[in-house]
Amino acid sequence: MNDLTIPLTMQVNGTDHSIDVEPRRHLADVLREDLALTGTHLGCEHGVCGACTVLIDGEPARACLMLAVQAEGSEIVTIEGLADADGTMHPVQAAMHQAMSFQCAFCTPGFLMSTIALLRDNPSPTTEEIREELSGNLCRCTGYQSIVDGVETAVELMGSDR
Ligand code: FES
Ligand code: FES
Repeated sequence: MNDLTIPLTMQVNGTDHSIDVEPRRHLADVLREDLALTGTHLGCEHGVCGACTVLIDGEPARACLMLAVQAEGSEIVTIEGLADADGTMHPVQAAMHQAMSFQCAFCTPGFLMSTIALLRDNPSPTTEEIREELSGNLCRCTGYQSIVDGVETAVELMGSDR
């Protein structure tokens, strides 16, 4: 620590981290640059596109809008934390892969994190609810239909697990 940094302790994808950060830095930069978790993407960097969405204590949040020091004591999940250690994809990842939901995939991490929170809170959403709940995530490539198809595939896959 120096005069310009503050100690920060947080858990990311099940691993505890204690690092020193400048208070001006946002969480997305710290995840990407200090922890090398570059799956959290930065698009607009002002809260519009949703590419930087991560789960903080279970709730989706835009990592570009949050100072890293605000995450003190939090449990964070990023896209890197979804698959099992043996590489088995999370059901939402598998569903979106199966439905070919994405093209360039820049938006993918944010959509996945938002979808996981959506299906946790509403395991059987209607198409309209899916579109409404994911309206905070932008995609420049797909026209969104394939993403909605992926979420509906996830509902089927996860329903068969219940
Ligand atoms: S990069 Fe955070 S919302 Fe766009
Ligand atoms: S697949 Fe390219 S931005 Fe969504």
